[in-house]
Amino acid sequence: MSKFIINGGKPLSGKIAVSGAKNSALKIIPAALLSKQALTISNLPEIEDVERSFEVLEDLGAKIFRNGQEARIEPEGIKKTELNTKLADKFRGSVMFVGPLLARFGEVKFPHPGGCVIGAGGRPIDLFLEGYRAFGAEIEEVPGKFYDIKAEQLHAADYFFPFVSVTATESMMMAASIIPGTTVLKNCAMEPEIEALAGYLNTQGAKIKGAGTPTLIIEGQKEINAGNFKVIPDRIETGSFAILAAAANADLEITDCNPEHILTLLNILKKIGVDFSVGSDWIKVQKGRRPLRAHDIKTHEYPGFATDLQSPYVVLMTQAQGTALIHETIYDRRLLWTDMLSQMGANITMCDPHRIVVQGPTPLYGKRLMSPDLRAGIALVIAALIAQGLTEIDNIYQIDRGYEKLEERLRGLGADIERAE
Ligand code: EPU
Repeated sequence: MSKFIINGGKPLSGKIAVSGAKNSALKIIPAALLSKQALTISNLPEIEDVERSFEVLEDLGAKIFRNGQEARIEPEGIKKTELNTKLADKFRGSVMFVGPLLARFGEVKFPHPGGCVIGAGGRPIDLFLEGYRAFGAEIEEVPGKFYDIKAEQLHAADYFFPFVSVTATESMMMAASIIPGTTVLKNCAMEPEIEALAGYLNTQGAKIKGAGTPTLIIEGQKEINAGNFKVIPDRIETGSFAILAAAANADLEITDCNPEHILTLLNILKKIGVDFSVGSDWIKVQKGRRPLRAHDIKTHEYPGFATDLQSPYVVLMTQAQGTALIHETIYDRRLLWTDMLSQMGANITMCDPHRIVVQGPTPLYGKRLMSPDLRAGIALVIAALIAQGLTEIDNIYQIDRGYEKLEERLRGLGADIERAE
């Protein structure tokens, strides 16, 4: 297993560029299945989850030509409709192939997707299954083994999501774009990645209205084209770097980003005393007076406070004056990692699985740790960078899943961080 060795407390400054968004890339790659034509993707993040996604697509029979952050996908060769179990087991994003395969071929067989263990019950996919049934599909489930979905004739659906889900919204939106009839989806997620995906599909002949609002109206087309897609900037990386700058009290310029996508975070940073300025695609965080002021957060679907930014924010609150209540509303197991932050010296009280109280400011000290998942992993890196002494973070595959060449980019800011086997 690879690990990071971080010698904390070094002054940080300079520029850091944001990569393409993991959670946009992981949807556009399966979207290649919706058309017979070739799709070219640019600004792809070079991360493990994207590699896994290409492996799934290649296993299905697509041809993929990669050149760093660009890829061309030729889907003509796809005949297979069964997802490889070993590959699908590695990441939650594998579930994104199911909707397009079903819509295009009328059948799909797949195992329960893997990925970060942050939700109760192994991160259920009940919403997806309910959605496919609404399209007229029949589902056979062999528990613990696979789902086998078939449909003689898929039809448009009028579907209300019982709760908001990003990937379920995207999955049904993609499928509906080539299922005959007018599908109406209500209580949809509104994340920018969904708008980007809908925008691309519309330029290729799909008829999707309402992306970025709770109601999607989709007129299914017989066929859609494929073309060029530029992955949008990663808003979670953007927010994580802004939080790093605030926590390390560093002068940092974050480039190639879209500040509009993290307005909730920026609003809070302003309230707690972080000095920064914003342009159309950059954020400059300036050194300022410390300590910052503690501020409560409650995670929420977009445009609320992103659950994926909760963990870096908890680290920031260890450096702020006062008490912050952190309420995680999206996932059941996403605060458990804070035990490691307590081992580093943070003063954290767990109220229940969804709420912690952070009392700051407290100095943090280097420790030997293990990254339990992607977002907890980046939070531990931020904590290690501001801690006194040496921190070892094991299992950094979890970090590599979503952050491209992180150690190189952080070294560019003056961080003392090495990768070791
Ligand atoms: N849920 C169900 N049943 C379902 C689907 C979801 O119970 O069929 C639950 C989840 O367990 C969770 C809640 O619904 O408690 C909301 O989850 P959602 O479905 O919105 O999450 P997701 O679509 O699986 C995407 C991102 C996550 C991000 C969430 C919330 C991708 C590939 N993943 O997940 O990203 O946290 O939306 O914004 O887009 C990450 O990047 O680290 C990550 C986990």
